[in-house]
Amino acid sequence: SPSVPERIQEKRRAALLGGGQSRIDAQHQRGKLTARERVLLLLDPDSFVEYDMFVEHRCSDFGMEADKNKYPGDSVVTGQGRINGRLAYVFSQDFTVFGGSLSGAHAQKICKIMDQAAMVGAPVIGLNDSGGARIQEGVESLAGYADIFLRNVLCSGVVPQISLIMGPCAGGAVYSPALTDFTFMVKDTSYLFITGPDVVKSVTNEDVTQEQLGGSKTHTAVSGVAHKAFENDIDALLNLRDFFNYLPLSNRDPAPVRECHDPSNRLVPELDTIVPMESTKAYDMLDIIHAIVDEREFFEIMPSYARNIVVGFARMNGRTIGIVGNQPKVASGCLDINSSVKGARFVRFCDAFNIPLITFVDVPGFLPGTAQEYGGIIRHGAKLLFAFAEATVPKITIITRKAYGGAYDVMSSKHLRGDVNYAWPTAEVAVMGAKGAVQIIFRGKGAHAEAEYIDKFANPFPAAIRGFVDDLIQPATTRLRICRDLEVLASKVQANPWKKHANIPL
Ligand code: COA
Repeated sequence: SPSVPERIQEKRRAALLGGGQSRIDAQHQRGKLTARERVLLLLDPDSFVEYDMFVEHRCSDFGMEADKNKYPGDSVVTGQGRINGRLAYVFSQDFTVFGGSLSGAHAQKICKIMDQAAMVGAPVIGLNDSGGARIQEGVESLAGYADIFLRNVLCSGVVPQISLIMGPCAGGAVYSPALTDFTFMVKDTSYLFITGPDVVKSVTNEDVTQEQLGGSKTHTAVSGVAHKAFENDIDALLNLRDFFNYLPLSNRDPAPVRECHDPSNRLVPELDTIVPMESTKAYDMLDIIHAIVDEREFFEIMPSYARNIVVGFARMNGRTIGIVGNQPKVASGCLDINSSVKGARFVRFCDAFNIPLITFVDVPGFLPGTAQEYGGIIRHGAKLLFAFAEATVPKITIITRKAYGGAYDVMSSKHLRGDVNYAWPTAEVAVMGAKGAVQIIFRGKGAHAEAEYIDKFANPFPAAIRGFVDDLIQPATTRLRICRDLEVLASKVQANPWKKHANIPL
């Protein structure tokens, strides 16, 4: 009989082959990489250290105990490695072994790397491609999901958690990605849903395809479940590497600083004329963001969802920052339910992981209407307010134009402990626009009143004379000012009162 070293070799060979060549070929034919190919593409060359290659499932029902139904490593590849030299833990579900379905052993492997990631302080990246609970294992598999969910919750705010959906992810399996900080998808080959099209048909009688129900378009543009979608496996994994560079390894780490070749004192003259003269005319907040940040690099989060607010990561003088900006191009930049929730979650991520917040304000207020009121805009708008108020990371705010009403308060105002608040000369900080204001206080009588209102309020002075903005700055100097402020604020220390946890309105 073979010696132990020979048996080790044999098992390693078997583990590397997963569910076998024909299933690997089928995976490739679908335009998907295998679990191992994905890990190798995500991590720096030769950096992957694999754990639990010899773990096997322990099911003995339905003939599962037969040797032909045992695969060394079971249906997930786990371990740690480096992304641009920085430590990351990764699990990659192997669709070629029982459809990547989650056995007790599979869950145990994931939990092992999550526990270690939390202890050493490094992010967890999950590459999801799974048919869900291992049907042959029953409750053992459900227990495995719950073990992972618990760790997702305990790791939340401790180490960044990222999910990349690269195939099916259905039923209970969806809740691990949902608990992580970011969920990305691959176009056309990935989907997320609670129940598939057949169950939907039998319960609600709706006809819907897998793609319509839970494909990347649905989740990045309609449901807000996913934060971004990529063209294919390779594009997704390379983007994930880029994204990783913005993140600190844990909440004990400062946000990373990269060498910067874009001068921090660079003037941006085009900003002096970017805001149109007519206050009702739109412009693109992304133009301002691109012009200000290092080398025009902006990793936008949720670019297709609630487009009236823009959020994402960039760098200033090499430091990672989180940007929140109203988008005048979409719904005049009004805050509504979806944009409030999108903004709030982003702000809380940045605050949890020591990433300074830069907020660009051009907001005419909250979106009126029954749809918004019935949908609970009061409750949801409160989330964004709550998130900005509780955040203790450096907060710099630039009012480019409108800062009206309650929305002015919400958008990282001085009153919510904004550290540095600027206004451009085009800023208007007021309860509302001139037309609406005159309607209410003079019942529409008198054009003179409108002119008087504009003169009094449609400018940055009422806020500046009260110290609610710290300075009125020439737009061209915005980059220079922010870079300088971030340097000063790098040593900011601020704490909230002790509590078990806050009770953010959900
Ligand atoms: N448990 C055990 N094995 C599973 C499984 C599961 N949950 N899901 C898939 N598999 C196995 C299949 O039996 C098949 O095995 P084989 O290669 O030996 O034939 C293999 O994984 C691939 O599945 P297949 O159905 O051929 O792939 P597909 O691409 O046509 O469909 C799914 C993929 C995920 C849509 C389909 O497998 C499915 O519906 N699975 C069950 C999903 C579910 O209800 N999970 C439980 C609830 S959480």
